[in-house]
Amino acid sequence: MTDRQPRLPPFFHLVALDSIDSTNEEARRRAAAGAGEGTLVWAREQTAGRGRRGRAWHSPRGNLYMSLLLQPGCSPAAAGQLGFVAAVALAGTLDDLLPRPERIRLKWPNDVLVEGRKISGILLEATAAPPGGVVLGVGVNLRVRPEESLYPTASLVELGLPDPDLPAFLERFAAGLQSWYDTWRATGFAPVRAAWLARAVGLGEEIVIRLDRETLTGRFAALDESGALALDLPEGRRLIAAGDVFFPAS
Ligand code: BTN
Repeated sequence: MTDRQPRLPPFFHLVALDSIDSTNEEARRRAAAGAGEGTLVWAREQTAGRGRRGRAWHSPRGNLYMSLLLQPGCSPAAAGQLGFVAAVALAGTLDDLLPRPERIRLKWPNDVLVEGRKISGILLEATAAPPGGVVLGVGVNLRVRPEESLYPTASLVELGLPDPDLPAFLERFAAGLQSWYDTWRATGFAPVRAAWLARAVGLGEEIVIRLDRETLTGRFAALDESGALALDLPEGRRLIAAGDVFFPAS
């Protein structure tokens, strides 16, 4: 492991921390105190890392924990597409690092899987202030995978990246993320959607999707133009904006 600071493109303002409760929480605090778009909070560990849907995110040293402050200037619904932007950027970063990149796939809404195992988590949150701000939080299991998880998990070390260098990984990922963010801002969701679909897992297949108050089983028919999952049910098609997807054992 190196202690050098990552060198990021000028878009980013890096805040490098040793330990923090949650980089998302710290980015939200800094946004409230006036930090602007491009502020990137990176920590070596989190003591209260947050996952999607109120879950905790196991955050020991050795993995990547970062949150990027953005001001996308769009509706909250469209801002949800930033999770797809990050997933596509992360998959592209891994293409250059892992053996057999054809193993790298994407699971709705924004999980990156390698050999069917989740290697990262992406959490989008709105800032309390200023209005319209978005915190894009990304955790990547470089060295350590969580013991307990809803899904099968893996670390990049287990998948063939024997000695990951955190600053170098962040440099690569940040560059890819900026490039995809610029594309999304300039041309909208279509190219991101196409890149996501090219790696999608479960499209056209039966899936189980757990929502807040119900669990549905249906066919993953499409990813719509906004990023919602179109689920075909016996009673008709339903568009799902948020949920946990599982694949029935085949
Ligand atoms: C998921 O549940 O899949 C999303 C997990 C997101 C974890 C990252 S780690 C960096 C950032 N800070 C947090 O507290 N959470 C996100």
